[in-house]
Amino acid sequence: MAVSLTVIGPRDGQLEELVRATGRISTLTWLADLSTLLDPAAGQPDVLLVDVRRASGLPSGLSVLKRQHPATNVVLLGSTVDPALMLEGMRAGVTEFIAEPLRQADFDAALTRLLGQRTQPAGGQVFAFVGAKGGVGTTTTAVNVATVLAKLSRCATLVVDLHLAYGDAAVFLGADARFSLLDALENIHRLDAEFLRSLVVKTASGVDLLASADRPPNRVVDVRRLGSVVQLAASQYAFTVLDLPRSDLAVLDSLDHVSHIVVVANQELAAVRNAGRMGAALGSRYPTVKVSTIINRTDGKAEIGQRDVEKAVGTTIGHLLPDDYRRALTAMHKGRPLALDNHNQLSASLTTLARELAGLPEPKGDRTQSGFRGFLSGRR
Ligand SMILES: Nc1ncnc2c1ncn2[C@@H]1O[C@H](COP(=O)(O)OP(=O)(O)OP(=O)(O)O)[C@@H](O)[C@H]1O
Ligand SMILES: [Mg+2]
Repeated sequence: MAVSLTVIGPRDGQLEELVRATGRISTLTWLADLSTLLDPAAGQPDVLLVDVRRASGLPSGLSVLKRQHPATNVVLLGSTVDPALMLEGMRAGVTEFIAEPLRQADFDAALTRLLGQRTQPAGGQVFAFVGAKGGVGTTTTAVNVATVLAKLSRCATLVVDLHLAYGDAAVFLGADARFSLLDALENIHRLDAEFLRSLVVKTASGVDLLASADRPPNRVVDVRRLGSVVQLAASQYAFTVLDLPRSDLAVLDSLDHVSHIVVVANQELAAVRNAGRMGAALGSRYPTVKVSTIINRTDGKAEIGQRDVEKAVGTTIGHLLPDDYRRALTAMHKGRPLALDNHNQLSASLTTLARELAGLPEPKGDRTQSGFRGFLSGRR
């Protein structure tokens, strides 16, 4: 959901950064006073932040504005917790009060109280893919699931490569990205829907991509702000697919807005062992998020079978993606996700996985078993 916020008061870089870092604001406007909003026909922001830290009191006209536009949420920002100012604010219709020192948590909490009920249901679904081990096919799975979601739903779909630098998603999507996630994090004070739009690149497969940078950070970036980027993405896209680096703990700690985390494993001991541990850790860190494990490059003759993996991760494995190295490699070299082509088992399995994650119905009349079930039963 697009949320507009207008600040009444002098422009302030730190305040702007905190407001944008909530990840909820799609349009941020600064006004010196209330005059343009007082017209009964004037469009109102969803949230009005009245900064009185350097003022002698409330701006004149605030109670008039609240009478004319009772739905406008007003947050008052003061230099101290001043009971007289708070009382005056309450009488004028102020809903939230924040005082210096400015803290991110105060802004997040105030906007959650004001908008929580309104933003959550309207947000899109976010799917995060993380490898239990390097090279198991996490990026392959993530970009193909995103491609299927965009193709089947015709809804806006975004891939975010959460490797801060040197990630591969752009190669798999044949994209030449000028900007990256790092640009978002380095300019977090500018983060809004328009800025996000300027950073993503449209790809031929139908998905947008917020790519990984091909440079190291220019300065220290606060990776904890990733959550704000993901939340903003979810407010703009029906589906957001995250390609996660498994070893960056700060990234794994920024997944509050994710609907489902998929751990990608194969049948190697190291991957199976990690899948169990990662699944358990992610499950307890995000008790309300669904966490599941899939096996990629399934090998029916492998020493470690499906049951062994299930024992290690403590749950059933819902998806076994077949091994098709030639097709996977060719797709990567062409920058064209293999799921765009039908009639191959890997594509069918990825389609089944994407459908299940997003709850998209099977097409009518398609009663043949696709995906791994067909694969297992020998139907190809
Ligand atoms: N189902 C599959 N069958 C055969 N080959 C596959 C399959 N999935 C991925 N691959 C191949 O495995 C290699 C690694 O894939 P990918 O880059 O997606 O893995 P990753 O887990 O993202 O790696 P990294 O840890 O480096 O990020 C690639 O060459 C890819 O083409
Ligand atoms: Mg990868």
